[in-house]
Amino acid sequence: EDNLFKNVIAHAKEYGFIFPSSEIYDGLSAVYDYGQNGAELKNNIKEYWWKFMTLLHDNIVGIDAAIFMHPTTWKASGHVDAFNDPMIDNKDSKKRYRADQLIEGYIEKLEEKIEKEVEKAAKRFENFDRDMFIATNGRVVEYKKKIDEVNERMKNAMGSGDMVEMKKIIDDLEIADPISGTRNWTEVRQFNLMFSTEIGSLADDANKIYLRPETAQGIFVNFLNVQKTGRMKIPFGIAQIGKAFRNEIVARQFIFRMREFEQMEMQFFVKPGEEGKWYEYWKEKRMRWHQTLGLGAANYRFHDHLNLAHYAKAACDIQFNFPMGFRELEGIHSRSDFDLKSHEKFSGKKLQYFDSEDNQSYVPYVVETSVGLDRMFLSVLANSYKEEKLEDGSDRVVLRIPAPLAPHKVAILPLMKKDGLPEKAAEIMNDLKYDLRCFYEEKDAIGKRYRRQDAIGTPYCITIDHQTLEDNTVTIRDRDTMKQERVHVKDLRSKLIDACSI
Ligand code: GAP
Repeated sequence: EDNLFKNVIAHAKEYGFIFPSSEIYDGLSAVYDYGQNGAELKNNIKEYWWKFMTLLHDNIVGIDAAIFMHPTTWKASGHVDAFNDPMIDNKDSKKRYRADQLIEGYIEKLEEKIEKEVEKAAKRFENFDRDMFIATNGRVVEYKKKIDEVNERMKNAMGSGDMVEMKKIIDDLEIADPISGTRNWTEVRQFNLMFSTEIGSLADDANKIYLRPETAQGIFVNFLNVQKTGRMKIPFGIAQIGKAFRNEIVARQFIFRMREFEQMEMQFFVKPGEEGKWYEYWKEKRMRWHQTLGLGAANYRFHDHLNLAHYAKAACDIQFNFPMGFRELEGIHSRSDFDLKSHEKFSGKKLQYFDSEDNQSYVPYVVETSVGLDRMFLSVLANSYKEEKLEDGSDRVVLRIPAPLAPHKVAILPLMKKDGLPEKAAEIMNDLKYDLRCFYEEKDAIGKRYRRQDAIGTPYCITIDHQTLEDNTVTIRDRDTMKQERVHVKDLRSKLIDACSI
């Protein structure tokens, strides 16, 4: 698994999907650039989300708010006071860790121990009953008790911001530095995740502004602008795609956790009391949207939150089966009227909706769906990367990217660089290129060219040969089956558009 992930990362770089940021200066930790193929894939994911949200729902509109916002926004949203990670430093190794992740690591080890006991027992007994074993085996029951106890302590400490207790949990469990193995820690300190800078020319505290850590606040502060100018009736939604920034201290796992990333968020404004219904509605809708993409329905699951973010009343994740295991891909949050009420308080402006049916004004409740664009990119890339052994004994690496998301839909390949084949190819390409992103290539043997297209996930290759000049037919090669069929040039467009649309 680990090796596979390494291969995916190497492939992403070799084929122009993702480069480390400012690589000639040895990169910048947890920051990445999207290359020529990555940018196309990323744009296609955005379009796929944007169309679903704004075209298929006539009560959702999209906006594009600025990254910089008035600094009071982040006071009101709670991010200045509560958007923290608890950090602990090892005084020997000078390594910094998130305290909650160290404790989670301890819990994961206990879970592994339980799995080992289960495996051992499953080998020993016929008709092995897993649930029964877990409920009754002495050692396993002890491990489970410990897990519950640690979870409860951590939940309380995180909830109340009690960093002395966080440190005590780490000490009580005798958790050591996962790399150096030593236990010489500092105390646990809260670390705010927001980046700040100064606006204007004065480096004065009054001029301090933040880079937004979530796009959602740009929607909240524009709630009435959009509602009034768009004559929106509750329930309605506002969607947005944009950059967000977090000073992640432990930034690992490629583009899974970055310091600069993109979110695709939608705030759905509902009548107070109806948020439960809409929370369930959007959980189902979003799950179905992911599963429709075709990466395998079993690769997604719901995960309920134990530790709620400061703004949430109820929250769950849609997790994806990434190379490192099931991890959060999208969050669905019931945010109540927390944000709008708080913005009313801090701004002194009313943020209420007049409901003409009930003849009353109220602050709407909000259900939010928030998916990380880069995480979704990683889910598509990692899931579609396949190392295959072919029937003739040779190997190939192919990206089985769903056709609507593929960077290029079709490669146009004249078999030879002579006899008028390139000219005929150019003519075909001119007919297709306004509807489908085409990749033209005439260099190297055809087999080699097919493999290069496989490696960047192009679903179809069109080959122009001598027969094309006679009867106006070409071969279409399918990336996944590698089968070829002859098709008349006049049928190409509709056939390809059909195959590459969602
Ligand atoms: N407005 C709600 C919000 O921001 P979140 O759970 O903190 O909620 C939503 O973030 C999504 O943004 C996550 O599910 C994840 O996909 C993505 N995300 C968050 N932090 C990220 C990071 N450091 N790098 C990449 N994606 C991130």
